[in-house]
Amino acid sequence: MNLREKIDLNKLPDHIAVIMDGNGRWAKKHGEIRTFGHEHGIRSVRTASETCAELGVKYLTLYTFSTENWNRPQEEVDAIMNLLAITVSGEKETLIKNDIKLSIIGDLKKLPQECQEKLKEVVDVTKDNKRLTLTLALNYSGRWELINAMKKIAIKVKDGELSPSEIDEKVVNQFLETKSIPDPELLIRTSGEMRISNFLLWQVAYSEIYVTDVLWPDFSEDDLYEAILSYQNRERRFGKTSEQILAS
Ligand code: FPP
Repeated sequence: MNLREKIDLNKLPDHIAVIMDGNGRWAKKHGEIRTFGHEHGIRSVRTASETCAELGVKYLTLYTFSTENWNRPQEEVDAIMNLLAITVSGEKETLIKNDIKLSIIGDLKKLPQECQEKLKEVVDVTKDNKRLTLTLALNYSGRWELINAMKKIAIKVKDGELSPSEIDEKVVNQFLETKSIPDPELLIRTSGEMRISNFLLWQVAYSEIYVTDVLWPDFSEDDLYEAILSYQNRERRFGKTSEQILAS
């Protein structure tokens, strides 16, 4: 039985989030400069998206560029932005054909103008697609998102539209970048690092975390199947006891 056949399609996560890591190390391993790793990372983005769409996973969110990534050497930042613009435009027809909706979380305003325009165009033409929502986190960080949400909630309270006693998880959710996306059941990180790195801090409260040593440019269909199988073999307790879960 191959890995694909072992997956229980009735127990798929609805939402998989990925911290794509290891592009630089992959490039070094191949005696190349870091941007070579990012270029090859695109292949894994395509593989992960197509595999999720084929299986029936409804949401895939990729940590593509964090608010901290601006601190990288300028040539690397420029190369990533360029790659992003070229890839998004180049994949437009494939996204349409495969019924994939592209969405963005993060503050786009700091991205180069051309990149913003290409992203907005593809987001717009794919907005009614239903099979998979592919979300790119760009100039995004979890703390930035939470601070933003707090500011918006504070304004509502100040204007008398919301009382502090009404603030609950549902209200906070409505002010997050991910307001129309369910929380990820599975968070995958490649390249072996055991960190959340400021990604979806609120949303991963109950996510199952799967870390693989595979570097992102090598991440294959089988690696995704392994992650999903690991998730399917876990008991999700949400604070309850194992006995309570088995009895329900
Ligand atoms: C992490 O590896 C990778 C990134 C911060 C950039 C990821 C970007 C892409 C794959 C291109 C984006 C394009 C699309 C369309 C999604 P790293 O550079 O931190 O690797 P290292 O830890 O080995 O140095």
